[in-house]
Amino acid sequence: MTELTNKSFQTRAVHAGERVPPADFRPVTTPIWNTVGYLYESMDDLDAVFDHRKPGQVYLRYSNPTVEAFENAVSSLENAEAAQAYGSGMAAIHAALLGAGAKAGTSVVAALDVYGATFTLLNKLFTNMGVNIRMVDVTNHDEVETAIKETGAGILYLESISNPLLKVADIPALAKLAHNHNASLLVDNTFASPYLLNPIEHGADYVIHSATKYLSGHGDVLAGVVAASTENKNKLFELNKLVGSVLGPFEAWLALRGLKTLPLRMKQQCDNALQVAEWLTSHPRIKKVHYPGLKDHRQHALANQLLNGKGFGGVLSFEIDGANKDKVFRFMEALSICLPATTLGDIYSLVMHPMTSSHRGLTAEERARIGIPDGLVRLSTGIESADDILTDLETALKKI
Ligand SMILES: Cc1ncc(COP(=O)(O)O)c(C=O)c1O
Repeated sequence: MTELTNKSFQTRAVHAGERVPPADFRPVTTPIWNTVGYLYESMDDLDAVFDHRKPGQVYLRYSNPTVEAFENAVSSLENAEAAQAYGSGMAAIHAALLGAGAKAGTSVVAALDVYGATFTLLNKLFTNMGVNIRMVDVTNHDEVETAIKETGAGILYLESISNPLLKVADIPALAKLAHNHNASLLVDNTFASPYLLNPIEHGADYVIHSATKYLSGHGDVLAGVVAASTENKNKLFELNKLVGSVLGPFEAWLALRGLKTLPLRMKQQCDNALQVAEWLTSHPRIKKVHYPGLKDHRQHALANQLLNGKGFGGVLSFEIDGANKDKVFRFMEALSICLPATTLGDIYSLVMHPMTSSHRGLTAEERARIGIPDGLVRLSTGIESADDILTDLETALKKI
């Protein structure tokens, strides 16, 4: 503590009560370390921390104890060596692509039906940077291999369960294929969450999460994280020291708190999603339901094999027969439990219209190529009772 005897009121207002040395107790929960800088006994100590000769903290853009607690928790749940946190899922995706070597003159092969902003990030920002982008159907391994061979891509990018069509990627086979051609496999594992799948165990090199979704789970924080080997994490760390796309301590604290109930939430969300998907399948107003837990889903057998048997995720999408944008809007307005908010993975059930939300940045032709019709609705089931969700959907479908 700074010595304040005989100091003026003005100086005490600035320094009084601050910088109490660590005491002989530990808080049960990780505190929010809201500080930008740190003090050491000597400048030599600070110098050693800068040099990684001594553990410690230097500056909030480099690292922070609350953020590190969140990173360590994610790396444990993903069975990874390490993790690097970001201020958003998009920042995490951008960083993982740079970390894996995307730069002018290189090529990336990516799944066609990735999250809309990821599609735009690849096809606008990275394309403008001089990166050659090839979008493919990652369920067609011949198409993936041809694309990697033709472009000499160093990166294969995909989502473990895709948004919004819920295609399941065969990660072990695709990891092998990518590595055979010296490419890294980057997997956005947001939809599955580490509760259902650990892509690193199947050969993925970088595992990305929009921690805004299932990891945090309560719709109150924007966050991203990349789990990887220590070597790759160090690359991401050095990059982020320059770019500064950091997660704040308060957001890290919220995300860490959310993580604790991930298995409880996911269990209920997966159970609810399966019930809703089965119910919608036999509904006369519904043309098509996309959910890997349904027996007629194209990758149902793969999902059974790849996901760890605890469920098939909390997201499904369905097409209202003959519905245009207007009809979907009226349907969404008629819901009262399922909230029309543009996110997913929360304790609340949430509906979203891909055409006008997640895939808004795409042209009609691009959406048609991916297979996103105007009448498609995405539903992320919350932890409410399944009966109340079904009643809500039935009431709204009757109104249109
Ligand atoms: C699969 C997936 N990845 C990444 C993102 C981007 O995450 P964020 O909104 O935290 O930047 C989203 C957002 O919806 C998503 O659905």
